[in-house]
Amino acid sequence: MRFFPVLSLLALSRAAVIPLRRSLNERQAAPKLVVAHFMVGNTFPYTLQDWVDDINLASAAGLDAFALHVGPDAFQDTQTTNAFQAAQQVGSTFKLFFSLDMSVLPCATTDDGAALRARVKNFTSNPNYLQVNGLPLVSTFAGESCTFGQDSVPDGWKSQFAQHPDLQGQMHFVPSFFIDPATLNQFGGVLDGTFAFNSGWPVQVTTDLANGISTNLTGAAPDGVNALNKFIGANDPDTQAIQGLATLSAGGPPLTYMAAVSPWFFTHFSPQSFNKNFIFLADQHLYSRRWETLIAERNQVDLVEVVTWNDFGESHYISKIKGALPPGSDAWVNGFPHDAFLDLTRIYATAFKTGAAPAAEKDQIFMWSRPHPANAQASDPVGPPTTFQLTQDAVWAVVMATDAGSVTLNTSPTDSQTFDVVAGVNKLSIPIAPGGIMHGVLTRNGQTVVELAPSPSNFTFNGSPTAFNYNIFVASASAA
Ligand SMILES: *[C@@H]1O[C@H](CO)[C@@H](O)[C@H](O)[C@H]1NC(C)=O
Ligand SMILES: *[C@@H]1O[C@H](CO)[C@@H](O)[C@H](O)[C@H]1NC(C)=O
Ligand SMILES: *[C@@H]1O[C@H](CO)[C@@H](O)[C@H](O)[C@H]1NC(C)=O
Repeated sequence: MRFFPVLSLLALSRAAVIPLRRSLNERQAAPKLVVAHFMVGNTFPYTLQDWVDDINLASAAGLDAFALHVGPDAFQDTQTTNAFQAAQQVGSTFKLFFSLDMSVLPCATTDDGAALRARVKNFTSNPNYLQVNGLPLVSTFAGESCTFGQDSVPDGWKSQFAQHPDLQGQMHFVPSFFIDPATLNQFGGVLDGTFAFNSGWPVQVTTDLANGISTNLTGAAPDGVNALNKFIGANDPDTQAIQGLATLSAGGPPLTYMAAVSPWFFTHFSPQSFNKNFIFLADQHLYSRRWETLIAERNQVDLVEVVTWNDFGESHYISKIKGALPPGSDAWVNGFPHDAFLDLTRIYATAFKTGAAPAAEKDQIFMWSRPHPANAQASDPVGPPTTFQLTQDAVWAVVMATDAGSVTLNTSPTDSQTFDVVAGVNKLSIPIAPGGIMHGVLTRNGQTVVELAPSPSNFTFNGSPTAFNYNIFVASASAA
């Protein structure tokens, strides 16, 4: 919000007098795109129909494309081919593009560079390949250590990829290097923009940081909640990336900025498997608030990437649970649907694209909660995830109301709160304790308009879990 008026005034006045600056003006007129990060590694058993179903589901959720996160397995190549065939079959405007996983794709030699270029070029002329600024968009996950046999990382990416005759002038390269955004200017001749993969979560909020700013982080202690509130959905990562790009472009046309939004993060792999056991703080309606930040600063954000469509291992999926889950992750994924977020995604994606406030298409209640107390004990050899201390025991609700009304949330017969709601988005929450359930009712003029009541057998907050699970159960209900 804070840069919106300044930038648009600047753009208008410059466009009027300096033709060179026209691209800044064009950027603001360019359609805003919303894409979703798609783990091709989870599609081993996918049929063509699975891809068609996912593309239809994603289109209905307001998404324009999947960022195909691909690694070295041969089946991922086959599934990439299936994905393009499905997109063509659907015949929609739905697009695909690469997000090359440089944390696993080899990138140490010139041969590695040649293989990567071939992989990209194999699909960039496909009619369903996403174009940005008239060129195929190519993104990455990581890549900040790749040299492709050259003396430095920037030289490697420049001579073996971005400026190599195979690709020079033939793609729009917007990787997500995990680097200090202030050093983006080292990548002249490489970057057409940047994707801030981690911008979806307040990743800097560790338990140590939180302890340093609050005296009480226990459960839902008010001073802890207040101290952490300002980090939720904040625009700092965007500001840093945009400043880094401005330094790189050095007064030239603005480069492409792709921001991330994500509903959750919990991963729980033992040291013997992927060895990842942590959460990022996603309480206090992170998904909604991050979207609201991106909508407010949409003049500086070209694309939003939802992280993710189907990364079950890290609990930030918005699609249905399907495909081949990373081994072991079924323990925290099965029984924890997130696809109610698809509808919420459409509401926010539409607002991001149009600039209009998120609108209630119908009266609708969304709710989510973790399944056990943050401080629960469990005989789980992996132990609780890093940062678990910061998450609140609460049911989070978003109520999309077509008009004013009243919402009652309750987690037990005695734990109940009633809120006045307004037309549009309402973000509400209520504490939850062992034995608690999720229940919400929207009433208007004394009549029940929507009731959301997941069965206690589907969701009951468990005081004595046998294993740690900081994933969320997500549910929604709409007026008929
Ligand atoms: C290129 O695409 C074809 C199908 O279109 C596929 O069979 C092949 O494996 C792909 N090769 C590479 C290097 O991606
Ligand atoms: C911290 O907050 C919790 C929850 O509000 C409360 O029960 C506890 O007494 C507080 N501890 C301190 C040291 O203030
Ligand atoms: C509730 O549980 C039943 C039985 O396991 C399952 O079929 C159904 O899909 C679940 N519903 C939700 C919303 O998770």
